[in-house]
Parts: sequence; structure tokens; C-alpha cells
Amino acid sequence: MIQDWLAARRAGEEQAPEAIQAFVSGVVSGEVTRAQAAAWLAFVFCRGMSPTETVALTRAMTDSGISLSWPGITGPFIDKHSTGGVGDKVSLVLAPLWAELGLRVPMLSGRGLGLTGGTLDKLESIPGYTTDLQPERLHAILEEVGCFINGQTEEIAPADRILYALRDETCTVESIPLITASILSKKLVEGIERLVLDVKWGSGAFMKTREQAQALADSLVEVGNGAGVQTEAHLTDMTQPLGLKIGNALEVEEAVDCLRGQGPEDLTELCVLLSGEGERAREILRSGAALPRWEQMVRAQGGDPAAPLHGAGCEVEMVPAPASGVVQRCDAGELGWAAHRLGAGRTRAGEAVHFGVGLVLQAKRGDEIQAGAPLVEIRHQGGRGLEEARSRAIQSFDIV
Ligand code: URA
Repeated sequence: MIQDWLAARRAGEEQAPEAIQAFVSGVVSGEVTRAQAAAWLAFVFCRGMSPTETVALTRAMTDSGISLSWPGITGPFIDKHSTGGVGDKVSLVLAPLWAELGLRVPMLSGRGLGLTGGTLDKLESIPGYTTDLQPERLHAILEEVGCFINGQTEEIAPADRILYALRDETCTVESIPLITASILSKKLVEGIERLVLDVKWGSGAFMKTREQAQALADSLVEVGNGAGVQTEAHLTDMTQPLGLKIGNALEVEEAVDCLRGQGPEDLTELCVLLSGEGERAREILRSGAALPRWEQMVRAQGGDPAAPLHGAGCEVEMVPAPASGVVQRCDAGELGWAAHRLGAGRTRAGEAVHFGVGLVLQAKRGDEIQAGAPLVEIRHQGGRGLEEARSRAIQSFDIV
């Protein structure tokens, strides 16, 4: 009886993989009620799960929908996942970079919610770019171009959609086994052999401390490898934004700069690190050799890489530095919320985002600046969110 099984979970007893599989199937079919699923989530939240159970949950959630496969294409197949950060446009660079290095990158991404922007929202600032291509078309693009960046369809990991919505309603999101299964279930369907995780920590990240990020990284690596995908994780700093540009179209611009060999150093170096290819990757970025691959991918997904990005015509306001000195703090969380208030992000799923609004930082930690010199350029649409963005932008900086 499900009640007995729930009572075992409540008591912290280890549950068999087959039973976890049956539970997840029941959640999707409706045989397990939403109340029962919510209780189970709350017990997992409070009692935790063993690594074996987390692997079983991840597998069951992965198997709750379709999986992609790439017959006739030679790998290796690789993808990355970032836990999300402010100004994090790494996927836009890494997919064509890996393809240029001879790897195949079937990347399925999500939309932004809350503080951090989503890769799909950024890509949709390119006129014509489509993120809901069907598996046959994705197969053809992977074969021809070597990479795609598309959305997750309804048929992918439906158990995660149901359980994630319940976690949101029941305050059970921040559980390492549940986050692990949720993230990995959507990546393991991609038919990949290797997964590189960028687990961010700091004010602009989901995990606020390095210790929390380390615990999540350890769990993701153990479960990813346990589920048969070679998985590695890097812990990276999200106390200040990545690069200088925050906002959908702005981040596409900066990613293209990086592919041209003209990106900010922190973004370029993070892409090199995550690529795992050191000097070869740095040379490809420096020389601009992966830019044609990006343009090919954009065209294959219906976009025009030469067209002006959506969202043009924003008004610009410059925030001056309030003091002279060296920037000691450039707070990713505050700056992320500033961009969100301008309309770059969404608070509820399904809301529209504005493509052109955002921030262009003129200084980051360690930079010297004079009082009155440009500190942050705000791009806004008719003043929406401007006052709050301005005050958050000023509060983001300590200049001493
Ligand atoms: N991202 C996910 O996809 N799932 C979580 O549970 C948390 C972050």
C-alpha cells in the first residue's frame, strides 16, 4: 500500500530502486495522488536519500519520457549544464567551440526564471531562431553542424515537470537529491556520453556558499557517473557577474564577441576551462575559428546571424561612480535583480521577457575608477524598472 511505503520514507528507511521507479510512474500516470507525491517530497527533503536511491530516482525520472539517440552519427556526444548565474552566456560559446573541436553537442536548455536568464530567451533575441525543433531536424543539424541548442519538449522527463511544480508549491526545492535528479533527468535524455557541470556559488547563484555548491557538485558527479554518463563538475564564482553584459540580446552580443576572440577574459577563460581542451580551445577562441560554426548553427535553427537582434531601440542611462577608488565588490545578485526589474527576466513561467534591456558594466572587481566616471550603463524601455535598477546598481558596488 502506498501509505506503508510513505511511512517507510518518513522513517528514513532505504527504498528499493524498483519501488522508486513504480512511484515515479505512478506520479506521471496519476495513480499516485498529488498529496501523496507532496508528502513523499517533504519526507525526502527532511530525511535525504542515499546515492543509490538518488540514482534510482534520476533513472526513473529520465525514463518517464522520451530519450534522444543519434544513430549514424559518430560521437563523442557531450553537453554542459550550469546551475545558472548572472551574465552566464557560456553555453552560446561552448556549443560551437566543442563542435569545432570535433565533439557533438546535443544541447537542450531551459528558460530563465527569477534571477538568472535562460539560454533559450537569449537565443530568441536572434530574429528567426527557433528553439522547438523536432528530433528528426535536430538529428540532421547535429550531423551537419555538430551542435544545436534547443528547448526541452513536453515529452522529455514529464515526471520532473510534475514534481518540480509540487516542490515549488511545498517549499521542497532546496534538497540536494531532488535537485540532482531534476537536473540530471533532463540531461541524461540527450544521448550523451560526457557531461560537464558548472556549479556556481555566490550571491548571483542558486547556491549561495561554496560549501553548498560543493555538496551539490559531489552529488551530481556521483549520480551522473552512477547513471552511466562520464560526469565532471567545476565550482565557479558567481559573486560578481560573468563578463560585462547582462540581458538577453546583450549576452548574445558578448558571446559572439568571445567567439570572435574579443570577449572579456573571465568569460573566455571559463569557456576554456569547461571545454577541457586548454590551449587548443583558447586558440580557437582567439582566432575566431568557431564563429562560422555558430553562424551555421543559428542558420540551421532558422535564425539570421547577420540581422540586428530583437529589442533594439532601448533608452540608455549611465550611472556614474559615486566615489574614486578600486572596486572591491560588484554584486552579482543585486545586478541580476536590477536587470530582472528592467524586464530581462521573468517572475512566473510563461511571462514574456524583453530582449533589449539590461546592463553593461563599465567596471568590475579590481578595477580603478574615478568618481563621476561611467560605472553601469542601463538599457531600459520607457523607464520600466529604471528607478529600482538604478538604486540596485549603485548598491552593487563597494569602491574604496
Ligand atoms: N534546476 C533544475 O532543473 N531543477 C532543480 O531542482 C533546480 C534547478
